[in-house]
Amino acid sequence: MRARVFPDYEAMSAAAAHAVVDRLVEEPSAVLMLPTGTTPLGMYGRLVEMHRSGEISFSEATFFNLDEYLGLLPDHPASYHVYMKENFYGLIDADPARIFVPDGAADDPEAECERYQAAIGEAGGIDVCVLGIGRNGHIGFNEPGAPFDSRTRVVRLSESTRLVNAGDFEADRAPERAITVGMATIFESREALLLASGTNKAAAVAAALEGDVSESVPASMLKKHPNTTLFLDEDAASDLGRGVAS
Ligand code: PGA
Repeated sequence: MRARVFPDYEAMSAAAAHAVVDRLVEEPSAVLMLPTGTTPLGMYGRLVEMHRSGEISFSEATFFNLDEYLGLLPDHPASYHVYMKENFYGLIDADPARIFVPDGAADDPEAECERYQAAIGEAGGIDVCVLGIGRNGHIGFNEPGAPFDSRTRVVRLSESTRLVNAGDFEADRAPERAITVGMATIFESREALLLASGTNKAAAVAAALEGDVSESVPASMLKKHPNTTLFLDEDAASDLGRGVAS
């Protein structure tokens, strides 16, 4: 796991977008796994700009999302279906047949998890997995304690995650559960890019990069991954090298 530190959010976002585009230029049919949240918005913006200026086509790529809230219809404004459509998929030339987002409204969520996991396998696994990181070190909705051998499954969100995400929901009540791709599937990605911005991520970044590999800090698993790059702005990197990670 290596870290690249950029002066600010814009520079970090541009570099992450370029890393994705470089991969797609090499392999236009690459399989990408993508995150939601505030952090990747800059990267998506740059990717959309590059698409509009004719630099890159996404038409042959396959897309999987990392997670979705359980119990939200795909047109719920806080769903990750809507987020991805508004910020990325609806703005590029992606083939709708190759866009996969877990169905949080599935009648049988366990069957939906199996279907989603099988679709990842049928696509040949993930070439590039783009990740954010939670303040508690989560990746996707794999909260602290998530087993490193886990696959796509229904998970209970931690209270801290629900609090951070509460503003997206009426009455400030985020769903209690979600579907997330598991740790083992993330680990099997051929390349992982983890993006972090801001001082509120600094402790999690330091714990992941400088602490022990432990299921209590899910992102620390990536230390064992052969091809992971952290894209950090200076604020997110501000706890590195201080010996504060446990
Ligand atoms: P954020 O979320 O980008 O909104 O901070 C990241 C995450 O929780 O994984």
